Amino acid sequence: MYRLTFLFRSCFLFFATLQTVAGFSQKKTIDQKIDSVLKLMTLDEKVGQMNQYSGPWAHTGPITEQGDFLQQVKGGKLGSLLNINGVQHTRELQQIAMQSRLKIPLLFGQDVIHGYRTTFPIPLAEAASWDLQAIELSARIAATEAAASGIHWTFAPMVDIARDPRWGRVMEGAGEDTYLGSQIAGARVRGFQGKGLGNIDAVMACAKHFAAYGAAIGGRDYNSVDMSERTLWEFYLPPFKAAADAGAATFMNSFNDLNGIPATANSYLQKDILKGKWKFKGFIVSDWGSVGEMVKHGYVKNNYEAALAAVLAGNDMDMESRAYRNHLAQLVKENKVPVAVVNEAVKRILKKKFELGLFDDPYKFSNAQREQQELNNPEHKKIARDISKKSIVLLKNENNLLPLSKNIKTIAVIGPLAKSKMEMLGFWSTGWPDSNYIVSQYEGLQNKLGTGAKLLYARGCGIEDSSRNGFDEAIAIAQQADVVIISVGEKRDMSGEAKSRSNIHLPGVQEELIKAIYSTGKPVVVLISAGRPLIFNWTADHVQSILYTWWLGDEAGNAIADVLFGDYNPSGKLPMTFPLTEGQLPIYYNHFNTGRPAENDRDRFYRSAYIDLSIHPKFPFGYGLSYTNFKYDNLKLSSATIKDGKTIDVSFTLTNTGKYSGEEVVQLYLRDEVASVVRPVKELKDFRKVFLQPGESKQVTFIINKEKLSFYNQKLQWITEPGKFDLMIGSSSDDIRLKQSFELNGN
Ligand code: BGC
Repeated sequence: MYRLTFLFRSCFLFFATLQTVAGFSQKKTIDQKIDSVLKLMTLDEKVGQMNQYSGPWAHTGPITEQGDFLQQVKGGKLGSLLNINGVQHTRELQQIAMQSRLKIPLLFGQDVIHGYRTTFPIPLAEAASWDLQAIELSARIAATEAAASGIHWTFAPMVDIARDPRWGRVMEGAGEDTYLGSQIAGARVRGFQGKGLGNIDAVMACAKHFAAYGAAIGGRDYNSVDMSERTLWEFYLPPFKAAADAGAATFMNSFNDLNGIPATANSYLQKDILKGKWKFKGFIVSDWGSVGEMVKHGYVKNNYEAALAAVLAGNDMDMESRAYRNHLAQLVKENKVPVAVVNEAVKRILKKKFELGLFDDPYKFSNAQREQQELNNPEHKKIARDISKKSIVLLKNENNLLPLSKNIKTIAVIGPLAKSKMEMLGFWSTGWPDSNYIVSQYEGLQNKLGTGAKLLYARGCGIEDSSRNGFDEAIAIAQQADVVIISVGEKRDMSGEAKSRSNIHLPGVQEELIKAIYSTGKPVVVLISAGRPLIFNWTADHVQSILYTWWLGDEAGNAIADVLFGDYNPSGKLPMTFPLTEGQLPIYYNHFNTGRPAENDRDRFYRSAYIDLSIHPKFPFGYGLSYTNFKYDNLKLSSATIKDGKTIDVSFTLTNTGKYSGEEVVQLYLRDEVASVVRPVKELKDFRKVFLQPGESKQVTFIINKEKLSFYNQKLQWITEPGKFDLMIGSSSDDIRLKQSFELNGN
């Protein structure tokens, strides 16, 4: 009898506790709730939370059992899945997770890099807009769609600084500049997380790849990174700090080793800096298989050692290596990993599940009706069109060929990208096969001109073709036209992960095609769609007008037509330097001066120069033209000295002196003339995007504070030193219109 009562009471207690896990009285704080779940968990269940697998079935197919995958979900031995799309699949899986002992909900992650259903411009293109509100809104829409489709977590933003366009992943970041990159990192995190986790349209952001992945030697993906601590702190870490400050829920570490230690097992990065100094409270996920890849790095002997190294270094979740799954429990049992380390990681993961509201309702993001609505929301396409046009950069416009008149009679549209749809999406689009949703450049022109103009079309060549067979047809239609638009660039899988290129010239015979058409004598506009800065010197030197259109996503065609015909005056500015040739790489504007700087390209004798190549890029950082002109004048500083921690105001007048209304991105650069460590020749410290009607003037004011004058000294202290600073305001890093100096007195 006693035994029966005991059994009954134990069962009652057990089920009562389970109910609390699912229901949770609201009075408890999240930390208390986490503790009560943790107490119930076995070691295997805890380790399970620290694993993430990729979904083993096609996005549109049924769930097919693969290995013991579903058994693990049912057994409560899996924390998260990636690559599961849609309300139906996520709901089905969550239902299986709800059959587990403790009913701990799964987290669904996905690479929502530049849009989910609606594909927005690639991040590098959006960075060219220098429009933080628009960038935030783009991430907001992506999050709204993804969350409506059952996704809790995006592996974005990528905030890696990138100075080498051979690296294919430059398309995924904000370019080469730390200040611009940090601003954008914050904007994208805010966009993804909206009003905060727990809201129905918020997904967790993931700042990646921590850290310094963008500095892979030679621009070769996954390669080692070797850099000074000062470069790390000054140029590569700030965008991550900005993401953490904006509340990024998660971080992802990286494939590379940093100065010999793989980032995945780098406790200096993950424990000392991120979780320590920056007090990051979210969790860290490894990159895909990066725990196990430490074996190939030669850092550990096997997955057992890999799991040990990664977990002790602060890596909370193992994406796809199965190293935690297979070895972590054993490592705890052998006292190699304190259970406290596992508890700490699990707490961080559970906390996000609580914050998302999944313990209260695991199906919170599984509403089919909402999914339908959000994935077919016409507003989203309008917003995509808006940021797409803002991302386009006008590189050249001789004799004001652009904007084109809508009364042109005949336009020849030539080139392999003119009618292409999928190529408009670029790498990392979530790949919806519905081509009706994507507006090709040709369709964009049709939409803009209706039946008013005759459009002639010839492909000319393929993107990578070596054949010129299509040239004659293209020349023939060019000869019949009033103006020719040539659309060239990269295929969507030529920039992106594992897409490093040693040759970043326009691929195939595309530049030959441009030459052939140019020789007809017709006015030529070239559109270049690509995921990275490309080299196209002949084109840049000869054709009248060039628009760099990146990969703009679904609304590419409409946005490009808006710019071509002047319904939008281009305002984009390059977020990365465009090299003259690969031999200059890496090339970036904020370099040090050296002791033997070359004044110009004739100044090569024992100079820091090439004897056979210019040191100047083709197009500098911050460069981009407009259909109008802007005058900068009337620079005033509120004081010639900064002292006692005060600030100074820097103001000037910007005037639109041309015929079109338009926006100018005014850029403020500083140089510390003499310091205890060598400083860059200039550094972007602020910018403003200003809209002006023709003839209109506005006063623009920047505030110079101590933060803008600070740098890391030799001891890695963030300090200022008294002395003279050069202030430069301009339209690009190389087009400085206003200059003055000021003094910092004291520290
Ligand atoms: C990439 C990450 C990505 C992950 C998941 C990795 O190969 O480096 O950026 O989030 O895969 O797809």
